[in-house]
Amino acid sequence: PARALAAMAAQEPDSLEALNAVIRASEPLVPGATQAVLGEGPVGAAIAFVGEQPGDQEDLQGRPFVGPAGRLLAGALREAGIDRDRAYLTNAVKHFKFEARGKRRLHRSPTAGEVAHYRWWLDRELAFVAPRLVVALGATAVLALTGRQVPITRARGPAAFDGRPYRGFVTVHPSYLLRLPDEAREEAYAGFVDDLRRAASLAA
Ligand code: URA
Repeated sequence: PARALAAMAAQEPDSLEALNAVIRASEPLVPGATQAVLGEGPVGAAIAFVGEQPGDQEDLQGRPFVGPAGRLLAGALREAGIDRDRAYLTNAVKHFKFEARGKRRLHRSPTAGEVAHYRWWLDRELAFVAPRLVVALGATAVLALTGRQVPITRARGPAAFDGRPYRGFVTVHPSYLLRLPDEAREEAYAGFVDDLRRAASLAA
């Protein structure tokens, strides 16, 4: 099986399914993750969202955006009139990275090197899905899609991810909203929903 896997990995996958089989069979770059968390949603979705990396819940369930940040995103998508089931959701990095703190597993952000390692997969994944618009949620997604480290405050809004056949859009990561103090969160959340609405109109 090791040889079969190596042969599979050496070949250009010819479908999202084949690509996902390669990702699923790969070891995490940083050991510890339960499983690879693959993208979810229909091929041909008009709009795709790229997050950072799976969190604790995503790692255990094997699905993207099912933890607290995912719940916030789901609510915001609903408010923006975007049907989650018709959108494609994925992450720049496919494995959870964490620091053990007693029984808790605290999320650690991927390094630029880790993002670069996973980029090959993300590029192919999005090529198979072929959305009209890709929304980068936060700085890690921007780094994965552009190769550049840009502050979200500067990049926010419609963007061109050069050389890509889809339009780009940059907004904040839902975890950022969860970390804001209560008094700042409501306004920031409203701005996030506005961004999603604008993104949806660009993908239409
Ligand atoms: N945060 C992400 O960036 N992706 C997930 O899947 C969950 C939380």
